[in-house]
Formats: sequence, structure tokens, C-alpha cells
Amino acid sequence: MPAIAVENSKTIENLLAAYEGESNAHAKYTAFAVKADADGLGGAASLFRACARAEQIHAANHARIIKQLGGEAKCEIHTAEVKSTLENLKTALAGETYEVETMYPGFIEEATAHEITAAVRTFHGAMEAEKTHARLYSEAIALVEAGKKDAWVSAPRKFYVCPVCGYTSETPGEHDRCPVCNVPWERFETVQ
Ligand SMILES: [Fe+2]
Ligand SMILES: [Fe+2]
Repeated sequence: MPAIAVENSKTIENLLAAYEGESNAHAKYTAFAVKADADGLGGAASLFRACARAEQIHAANHARIIKQLGGEAKCEIHTAEVKSTLENLKTALAGETYEVETMYPGFIEEATAHEITAAVRTFHGAMEAEKTHARLYSEAIALVEAGKKDAWVSAPRKFYVCPVCGYTSETPGEHDRCPVCNVPWERFETVQ
């Protein structure tokens, strides 16, 4: 393994933190999906599965850059604390909001200062995708709180996930290309 250049060490530390966060979000959302199905909220379960897939993509992207910079991608996966689906949606939203407002902006600033373009790119792609998750979780929370049984949270439904950056949408063919990373929409994965 190549030695880690001093100017890369802080960025690698941040990449590892992001890798751990995304890997644990994947595990957490997968567990939340099972609970949502059990709660009769199949649409919320679909959303958790779509976001879980996106977090897996983020983790893989971060891992690739960690390796490129001479680090080793490894982390601990914690057992997710599963509560009611409404509480799980709120936990998920809080995690996404932290990543969008605090974690990724700080990491992007640091990597930009050291001109580590590959790290800036993976952080930026993940941050933009997390914004779509935050929006969808917020909508789901509002519907569950309003007790809207006929709304999309109730029945399993399709979501579309960018295989490159994890951008997530509820609308088929929302764009011709991913608005974050420009991948053609026909390459998006369908998750239900
Ligand atoms: Fe997310
Ligand atoms: Fe994308």
C-alpha cells in the first residue's frame, strides 16, 4: 500500500467518516424498511430501500477514492435502533439534514482547500443526493403524521436511483439525465 501523503491525511479521515456514515445509513434504512412493511407503510418501506441503495452507492464511491489516496476503506456497522416508522423517518431526516447542512459542506471545504478534486466530487455527489432523500423523508413524515392512508406512503411504489451518484426520485423520467452527475436517465435503477 502506498504511503499516505501528508496533505491527503485529513481528507482521508473525512472520507472514512463519510464512508462509515453512508455504510451505517444503508444498514439502518434496510432495517427501517422491514419495520415500515410490518407497519403497513409499504411506500415508506420502498423509500427506505431506495435511499439504502443510494447510500450503498455513496459508500462505494467514497471507498474508491480512499483507496486512490492510499487509505483503506473499513468501518464498523452498528445495530440500528428501530422504533415506529414515523420515528424512523424522523431519524432518517435528521441524518440527511446533518449531512447536507454540516458534514458534507465541511468536508468539501477541506478537500477543496487541498485541491483533492476526486474527494470534492464524491462528497458533492453524495450531498446533492442526500437533498433528494431529505425532501422525500419530509414528505413521508407529513403524510404519516396527517394519517393519510391513501397517500403514497401506504402502498409499495417505485423510486428511481442514479447508479452513479445516488440521486433519488419518485418521478419516472423526471429528467433526461441525472441533474447531479449527468448520467442518462435510462441507466437509473428502479427500486420498490
Ligand atoms: Fe441519504
Ligand atoms: Fe447521478
